[in-house]
Amino acid sequence: MNRALVIGASSGIGAATAVALAAKGWEVLLHGRDAERLAAVRAQLDGAGHTLVSGDVVEWAEDPKRIPPIEPVDLVVWSAGICELSAAQMLSLKAVRRTLAVNLEAPLVVLSHFYRKGVVRDGGTIVLLGSEAAHDAGEGFAVYAASKGGLAAAARVLAKEFARRRVRVVCLEPGTVDTPMTRRLVAAFGGLKGGHMERMISPEHVAAQIVALLG
Ligand SMILES: NC(=O)c1ccc[n+]([C@@H]2O[C@H](COP(=O)([O-])OP(=O)(O)OC[C@H]3O[C@@H](n4cnc5c(N)ncnc54)[C@H](OP(=O)(O)O)[C@@H]3O)[C@@H](O)[C@H]2O)c1
Repeated sequence: MNRALVIGASSGIGAATAVALAAKGWEVLLHGRDAERLAAVRAQLDGAGHTLVSGDVVEWAEDPKRIPPIEPVDLVVWSAGICELSAAQMLSLKAVRRTLAVNLEAPLVVLSHFYRKGVVRDGGTIVLLGSEAAHDAGEGFAVYAASKGGLAAAARVLAKEFARRRVRVVCLEPGTVDTPMTRRLVAAFGGLKGGHMERMISPEHVAAQIVALLG
C-alpha cells in the first residue's frame, strides 16, 4: 500500500488531502500540533492504520533531532503554513521572521532532512502548498507573498536536485481556498477584497488536484 505523510493535516487543505488520499487507498501519516483536531480528521479517514505525528515544524527545523522517527513514505504533502497580514509600513522583524520560519525555513530544512534520511522513498513525490499570492497578492500580504514566492523558487531547485533519486517536487499555487485560515482573515477584516470571496474554491478541490497529480 502507498504511504503518505501530510504535514499540516489537522486543518483545511491538509485535512482534505488526508481524507482524499485515504479514500484512494493510501495509508496516511497525519501531522499537526492540535491533537484533538488531528484525531478528528483521522476519524473521517477510510481504512485503518492511519497514524498521527505531532510536532511544531519550526522546532523541527531549528533542531532536526526533534523530528520523530517516520517510516519511509511515497508522498509528502507539505500543507503547514500561516498567513498573518500587516500593512507594509508596520512590518517588524519579529513578524517577518515568524512567517518565514513556518512557510519557508521549515519546509526547506525539514524536507532536506526527509530526503537525506530516506523518509521520502526513491521515486516518491513531494507536494508543497505555495500560493497564487506569490504572483498576485493584495495589500497586507507582503510577507506571506514573499514566503510563498521563496517556496516556489526553492521548489524548482529541489526538483532538480531530488531528481537524482527520482523524487518529484511540485509546488501547487492555489487561489483563495475556503479553510479556517481564510475564515480567520475574513473575520478579522470583514471580508476579502478583489473578488477573492467570489472565486473561493474548496479544500476538497485542492485535494483532488493533488490526488490527480499522482496519477
Ligand atoms: N487558504 C487559502 O486560501 C490558501 C491559498 C493558497 C495556499 N494556501 C496554503 O495552503 C496551506 C494550508 O492552508 P490552510 O488554508 O489549509 O490553513 P489552515 O486551515 O490554517 O491549516 C494550517 C495547518 O498548518 C499547521 N501549522 C501551522 N503552523 C504550524 C507549525 N508551526 N508547526 C506545525 N504545523 C503548523 C496547522 O496545524 P495545527 O492547527 O495543528 O497547529 C494546520 O494543520 C498553507 O501553507 C497555506 O499558506 C492556503
